[in-house]
Amino acid sequence: MGNYEFIKTRVEEATGIIELHRPDVLNALNRKMVDEIVEALERYDQSEDIRVIVITGSQKVFAAGADIDEMADDTPVSMELRNQFAVWDRISLVKKPVIAAVNGYALGGAFELVLNCDLIFAGETAKFGFPEINLGVMPGAGGTQRLAKTMGKAKALEWLWTGEHMSAKEVYQYGVINKVVAPEILMDEVLKYTAKLSRQAPLSVRLIKEAVNKVTDSTLEEGLLLERKNFYLLFGSEDQKEGMKAFIEKRKPDFKGK
Ligand code: HXC
Repeated sequence: MGNYEFIKTRVEEATGIIELHRPDVLNALNRKMVDEIVEALERYDQSEDIRVIVITGSQKVFAAGADIDEMADDTPVSMELRNQFAVWDRISLVKKPVIAAVNGYALGGAFELVLNCDLIFAGETAKFGFPEINLGVMPGAGGTQRLAKTMGKAKALEWLWTGEHMSAKEVYQYGVINKVVAPEILMDEVLKYTAKLSRQAPLSVRLIKEAVNKVTDSTLEEGLLLERKNFYLLFGSEDQKEGMKAFIEKRKPDFKGK
């Protein structure tokens, strides 16, 4: 896939993996790297061979946030003219499940990237935080909104105001991440889960993601309408016929994603 400068990509079975790779600066996210991540996500999303996408860093660091050197001279006008966050908005348009596998630091913009994923698996030594306040700024790629929605307003504010790092175990206790494992088995655990998820009916996986995301992005009323529409839609698929037939015939279903 693609010729990238700051990420590496590889495929394991039906899982497309994106590995952040800018080791000299702890994988700090410059704009080109974010473009590459989003392009790779979209390619995997379009690929018939891929069912699940994983974003990861190295054993030492997921990423230490947006590239401070690149950002230091930015102005409101330069960011507005560049339409700075348009590329970030494309992440939430990805239809397939996206899982973050985090070892080491996931700070600032990198934590925002993680919060943009559907599930978050972390190694015990992972450290999360929004240190933007120490730079005289604040999260800008959805961090305040997504954090407050998952961990609650009071705890989110307390944490955002300190800029401190939190361990994977603490963050897990607040329901922000799904699973904490020993760092060296993180990828194995993630791949075990993605192997399972890859066998699920793809259309169901996709439409459940859309419906669940609606909970955080909309009112209950809008969410219920979308859920119902997606439920009806699945009954127009071959996989629904196959899944129910297989149950009745007491065999494993053979899902085609159609
Ligand atoms: C640019 C960075 C960087 C960053 C680290 N480096 N983080 N460069 N942008 N975000 C560089 C350092 O300058 C250094 O380069 C090298 O990586 C190693 O970093 P050290 O600080 O020497 O490592 P260590 O002592 O282990 O400390 C690790 C750390 C610290 C705790 C993660 O690097 C740190 O606090 N980094 C900044 C974290 C941060 O503030 N992130 C939020 C950014 S703002 P040299 O050349 O000296 O070796 C943000 C806003 C998002 O994310 C807005 C929306 C997109």
